Amino acid sequence: MTAGPSIASARAEAAPAGPGAPLPVPLDIRGDFPILAREIDGRRLVYLDSAATSQKPESVIAAIDDYYRAHNANIHRGVYTLAQEATDLFEGARQRVAAFVGGEPATTIFTRNATEAINLVAYSWGRTHLGPGDAVLITQMEHHSNIVPWQLLCAERGAELRYLEVSDSGQLSLAQLESELARGDVRLVAVAHVSNVLGTINPIAEIVARARAAGAVSLIDGSQAVPQLTVDVSAVGADFYAWTGHKALGPTGIGVLQGRAELLEAMPPFLAGGDMIASVDFQSSTWNELPWKFEAGTSMIAEAVGLGAAVDYLTGLGMERVRAHERALVAETLERLAGLPDLRVLGPADADARGGVVSFVIEGIHPHDIAELLNRQGVSIRAGHHCAMPLMRRLGVPATARASFGPYNVSADVDALADALAGARRTFEL
Ligand SMILES: Cc1ncc(COP(=O)(O)O)c(C=O)c1O
Repeated sequence: MTAGPSIASARAEAAPAGPGAPLPVPLDIRGDFPILAREIDGRRLVYLDSAATSQKPESVIAAIDDYYRAHNANIHRGVYTLAQEATDLFEGARQRVAAFVGGEPATTIFTRNATEAINLVAYSWGRTHLGPGDAVLITQMEHHSNIVPWQLLCAERGAELRYLEVSDSGQLSLAQLESELARGDVRLVAVAHVSNVLGTINPIAEIVARARAAGAVSLIDGSQAVPQLTVDVSAVGADFYAWTGHKALGPTGIGVLQGRAELLEAMPPFLAGGDMIASVDFQSSTWNELPWKFEAGTSMIAEAVGLGAAVDYLTGLGMERVRAHERALVAETLERLAGLPDLRVLGPADADARGGVVSFVIEGIHPHDIAELLNRQGVSIRAGHHCAMPLMRRLGVPATARASFGPYNVSADVDALADALAGARRTFEL
């Protein structure tokens, strides 16, 4: 049930991986992803929207299919064979998902998505720890899911929401972090590991360490990081690390919250009902152990199984190789786009400082028109505010066009993007 990558490029197979040897890239794993065989209006599908959601390899689709065909039952309570198999598949997936990012199963909580993971912290930890005179510190580059829960929490608790600024090169300032922390009122620092718009890879271990030294709790939104970087949550040391399965080759409907055991133990439940209790009396209840205390109701069993298969697949590729491959595609994209007049790329200029996202604007063409014209060439990119409206305001643009990469993209996709953009400029007679 845990088939790894089946197709790798001849070059990838040929390259020896030894100490000091170059990483075996580029990858060509397109054959593992059935959807990439599709054509759009007779053209090869060029999928460049992995930051919104990734495509799924055959092994993930097969694992979900196999679960429903052969093992479907509700978990944890049944003594019959199917129920035990389903429980083993679900808890086995948790173990592999936890290990994939250096975490422990007991502190790896399955949620619906990253948004729910962050809301869990805002409701459960936030409501018990925040009050008037306290502050939550986030950044101008956050996704709405790492902004709006804190807005609601701060409004309810009479706390203040403050922002670290984003520089013109798309980066945060550790000096500003220091001065904010020095004010002495910051209780929580919540920061994206990798920006979904700018691509910026933030120095999260440093941010977490400084927050802790100032007595603040930290939450890292790893939604864009886990799919493309080697993430070790124990090395990062954050109190909470949230991410989402569907961007990491897994299915929709499953996210992950990894938390520090002492905090999770002390926190009240988020959602209440079946499975999260130890015992229920007429007037009161006691709570299940971690992680089940935070998993009320029937869990997303098939989705967990699918995410387990996704992390197996990524492990088979090797995350360092995935990163090297996507970094190379980004470097190539930055180079190709630099040759297009009137086009401005947002975020860090150096591919080492960014993940697999390239956002840009073209003077004289609205991002939605760019996306529409590219779609006619079979190239799927996203246009809009990318759920980061405060960042759009900071950048002084209403929207951007965004191309984002997954491990299944290849150099020919960069060519298709650059050629389609050149065509779009001609259409607008730029
Ligand atoms: C940086 C970041 N955080 C959080 C999310 C939210 O993910 P989900 O919608 O799966 O909860 C996204 C999704 O685009 C994201 O890019």
